[in-house]
Amino acid sequence: MISMPPFQLLCTVVGLLLLPLHISSADPDPLQDFCVADLKAPASVNGFPCKPEAEVTSDDFFFDGLSKEGNTTNIFGWSVTAANVLAFPGLNSLGISMNRVDFAAGGLNPPHSHPRATETGVVIEGKLLVGFVTTSNVFHSKVLTSGQMFVVPRGLVHFQLNVGEEKALLFTAFNSHLPGISRPPNNSLCFQPFNSR
Ligand SMILES: *[C@@H]1O[C@H](CO)[C@@H](O)[C@H](O)[C@H]1NC(C)=O
Ligand SMILES: *[C@@H]1O[C@H](CO)[C@@H](O)[C@H](O)[C@H]1NC(C)=O
Repeated sequence: MISMPPFQLLCTVVGLLLLPLHISSADPDPLQDFCVADLKAPASVNGFPCKPEAEVTSDDFFFDGLSKEGNTTNIFGWSVTAANVLAFPGLNSLGISMNRVDFAAGGLNPPHSHPRATETGVVIEGKLLVGFVTTSNVFHSKVLTSGQMFVVPRGLVHFQLNVGEEKALLFTAFNSHLPGISRPPNNSLCFQPFNSR
């Protein structure tokens, strides 16, 4: 490379830059049917190591953690129950997970973002104001009722607020087995309108 004539070197560099870059925007595709997570494995990998197939049972592919209503007795009047790989190891490496979100009347799922997943959701019960802010600082929002859906592009700050008189229930889905969560600090501008609630 070092002994290449300058023009050839330039062509090589430009050629490398033009190579199609594979940017993975969500979890990578699975390499096998399944890989039920061994959450206690001592090794750390990108994801979790697989439980030996001989030890996999039907129960590894079912999860009833979202059947119970969450406890919304807290400052925001809301509760999130996660069905991610940590709670439901059968999701490991499959690039998908869900949450159950319960809201008391007036409850708020405070502004946050998921660095590793786009989120979609469907309102099951109640009336929710759902909103997110783009990187150009544009705010998109809508009030949704039972059966209506939303999408929040990956990494964008978003929230849901129960604007109905009754409690509300929402199920969300993510294109990651562990979407991650990042919350702005409580004293940021984002939180001001809600801290006084
Ligand atoms: C809900 O959470 C509150 C506050 O932590 C607690 O006092 C209450 O006992 C919980 N309710 C239930 C049914 O677990
Ligand atoms: C923000 O407030 C909530 C509720 O009071 C608290 O649980 C959490 O630790 C606070 N987070 C930060 C970053 O201060």
